[in-house]
Amino acid sequence: MPPAENGSWLTDAVIYEIYPQSFQDTNGDGIGDLRGVIDRLDYIASLGVDAIWFNPCFASPFFDAGYDVADYLQIAPRYGTNDDMVELIDKARERGIRIILDLVAGHTSIEHEWFQVELHADGPSPEGDRYIWREDEPASGWANDVPGQPAWVRSPGPRQGWYLKNFYDEQPALNFGWVEPDPAHPWRQPVDAPGPLRNQQALKDILDFWLGKGVAGFRVDMAFSLVKDEGLFQGWIASSAIWRNIREWLDEAYPDAVLIPEGEEPRTGERLAFDADFMLVIHAPHASLFDDQSAGILPWHESRRPFFGAAGEGSTGMFLDTWALYREAEPERKVIIATADHDFNRLRAGRTPEELRTAFTFLFTWGSVPSLYFGDEIGMRYLPDMPNVEGAICNPSYNRAGARTPMQWDATENAGFSTAAAEDLYLPIDPDPDRPTVAAQDGVEGSTLSFVRELVALRRQHPELQGHASTTVVHAGYPFAWLRGENYLVVVNPRREAAAIETTAGAGMTPIFGSGAELTEGGVEVEGFGYGIFAR
Ligand code: BGC
Repeated sequence: MPPAENGSWLTDAVIYEIYPQSFQDTNGDGIGDLRGVIDRLDYIASLGVDAIWFNPCFASPFFDAGYDVADYLQIAPRYGTNDDMVELIDKARERGIRIILDLVAGHTSIEHEWFQVELHADGPSPEGDRYIWREDEPASGWANDVPGQPAWVRSPGPRQGWYLKNFYDEQPALNFGWVEPDPAHPWRQPVDAPGPLRNQQALKDILDFWLGKGVAGFRVDMAFSLVKDEGLFQGWIASSAIWRNIREWLDEAYPDAVLIPEGEEPRTGERLAFDADFMLVIHAPHASLFDDQSAGILPWHESRRPFFGAAGEGSTGMFLDTWALYREAEPERKVIIATADHDFNRLRAGRTPEELRTAFTFLFTWGSVPSLYFGDEIGMRYLPDMPNVEGAICNPSYNRAGARTPMQWDATENAGFSTAAAEDLYLPIDPDPDRPTVAAQDGVEGSTLSFVRELVALRRQHPELQGHASTTVVHAGYPFAWLRGENYLVVVNPRREAAAIETTAGAGMTPIFGSGAELTEGGVEVEGFGYGIFAR
């Protein structure tokens, strides 16, 4: 793998997200492990992906599936050892695949030694507190219980008072300071107080440790949750400054390493700290395209009619408006668009394999960086009513477990995921006797797996279908049509009913991929669920 310059490899990459708990168990404990990923590397390579993004795989009590880290420098024993990770990095590299880990930057586990030391201290640390502690009783307005909202949690002692959490109670917020310190509230320390500076250094130390072992970069969990009294309206200026400082250090130490925030990096007018943005699965633009919200309804979702739906009642409007904003500010911006992720619905979401094809065609030919969530390549479904394993249920109408069930490999016991007893599995396997599996689809013409492999291969083969080339919308409704660069036209019709448009965009082009889509004299005609890629 030739060293790319400053993370530019990411622009044309395809990412594969692995939720480590659910990919492949090799020691029979019912939970996936790194050996399992190593054993499956040839499969992963066969998808044509360039990078694997792992959800956190560090030592943790797993109150939040590992997003509560107890030791950033230690692989969780249930996944294996640090040596296994190094072996995985090396063997993946041999196949041209990079490894991206997940950095939980805004909080730790209550079991992290840093927290335990402060919990057992009499008062503030002389070196600066790593967490945010107060002794005065918080105003009741703070005491909300919404995961992801900062709120005060009463200290279980011996230290008196309250600590600030970042997500669940078991995830105390790390102290990165406040924009507006307040002497009346000594816990509101400036961003350059000793505690916050220690934590900034700790982030560099963690990055250094893993990048030194050959990791290619990090997805950063809740990246803009660092400085507590800023947010969307304040522009996250202080949190961005911390990341910019880290990026500047990386530029010297590991120039090719990529940092990807969860979500979108706020534009502050200064140089960017991150290498890409995420158009998150739980966010409205993504949901308006794909999500039927069976995993849960989040307040900012406005429609239950995704554009990629047989009824044909959705719109690309919200997605395209957001995309245009991104591109206006920065034409070269890398935007990651995932099929799904560990926090929300799967792409399948009630779609038939036939319907999935238009969605995949879009995802792998749009000018974004595609991220394929493990199992989506065979059309695994979101499983409703799964138990609340490792904090999966955030609120009664939002259950993430259904998107985290084990990979379905073959027709053997537990779908080849594990030899453990069914009741000992991390989460149940899809009980449907017709559940999709890799074995049933591998090498089978017309299967979802073959379709995904073909599309990813096509993207690799035609550079203008990757991230660098421009994306120009030709038609925003049904059928959805866009040009890539100068020489490619892509058309998808995600609805049941046929659709046609008049356009000269495809003049002089011939089909290179597709089904049910045809260039006519004056335009394009696409059958229901049809798709096509045309090239000059
Ligand atoms: C992760 C979630 C996690 C939360 C708290 C999110 O961004 O994707 O899975 O529960 O952060 O760390």
